[in-house]
Amino acid sequence: METPLVIVVTGANRGIGRAICAALAQQYPNPLILYAASRTGASLDLPNLAIPPTVSIRPAQVSLTDQASISAPSERIRNENKSCVVLINNAGLYYFQENITMAQCQETLDVNYRGTLNICQAFLPIMRKGGRIVNISSQSGQLKYFHPRLRARFLSPNLNLSKLDDLAEEYIRSADHYTATASGWPPLAYFTSKAALNSVTRILARENTKLLINCCCPGWVGTPLGAQAGQPPKSVEQGARIPLRLAIGEIEQISGRYWANDSVASVGYGKVQDW
Ligand SMILES: NC(=O)c1ccc[n+]([C@@H]2O[C@H](COP(=O)([O-])OP(=O)(O)OC[C@H]3O[C@@H](n4cnc5c(N)ncnc54)[C@H](OP(=O)(O)O)[C@@H]3O)[C@@H](O)[C@H]2O)c1
Repeated sequence: METPLVIVVTGANRGIGRAICAALAQQYPNPLILYAASRTGASLDLPNLAIPPTVSIRPAQVSLTDQASISAPSERIRNENKSCVVLINNAGLYYFQENITMAQCQETLDVNYRGTLNICQAFLPIMRKGGRIVNISSQSGQLKYFHPRLRARFLSPNLNLSKLDDLAEEYIRSADHYTATASGWPPLAYFTSKAALNSVTRILARENTKLLINCCCPGWVGTPLGAQAGQPPKSVEQGARIPLRLAIGEIEQISGRYWANDSVASVGYGKVQDW
């Protein structure tokens, strides 16, 4: 049998991540080892799904605030002399209220931005040439929510990981002093975390030209996270469409870009958008 390719999905236990795993298990054209990573490390529960014998689904334990667990899956794959063809960074959290505690604000940045960057960095050395990284972002990360002065810093061609970290620290300091919105930051930590994730995508794509690294908004999707803002119009299967396209579909060698549909309700497969 052909050597199986390795795909890793974080936040695989529920929501969009679980739908991505279900689709990959059913549609992936080659023999596949699918690492379905979750905070508990439990096996992925996919009842009623006939998994083809060419697909092996393995659990992995990843908590994005714990560096040891962030490093473990890539070390395991390296120790098995394998490489990774696709990493889908789906795990994320959203405190959907303005008056969150500083701990929640810090956690939002730690998970959606810093932890996701850390797992990208753990995987970069074991990515297969031509492999893909998909970061699940959000329309909330669009720079229209930021003061033009901050927008220019996010969009600067000179932005690197160190300067991005400075921006994130600056946001945390102003949130701590209750001056974030007065200083031009958006009202919710989630927005800043996803703008930072979009920047991570752009910077890593520039630095890793043999890979395709993109981010996307899945739309407004019916999960506990999405339902905080009302009645989401999209199913998890529809929410998985853009991430799956960026992972295994036709994207014309595009890298470093943000993909979305024109509306968060649209069930299309996404296109490159400014953010
Ligand atoms: N739903 C939407 O409308 C929508 C819109 C835009 C973007 N997104 C993005 O889509 C992605 C998936 O969201 P979803 O709607 O499917 O949300 P969800 O159902 O709440 O699932 C979130 C997933 O992230 C995991 N997670 C949270 N914190 C984590 C941590 N510290 N370490 C590791 N895993 C962690 C959760 O694990 P546990 O089960 O252990 O908590 C869960 O698997 C997120 O990045 C979200 O920001 C969603």
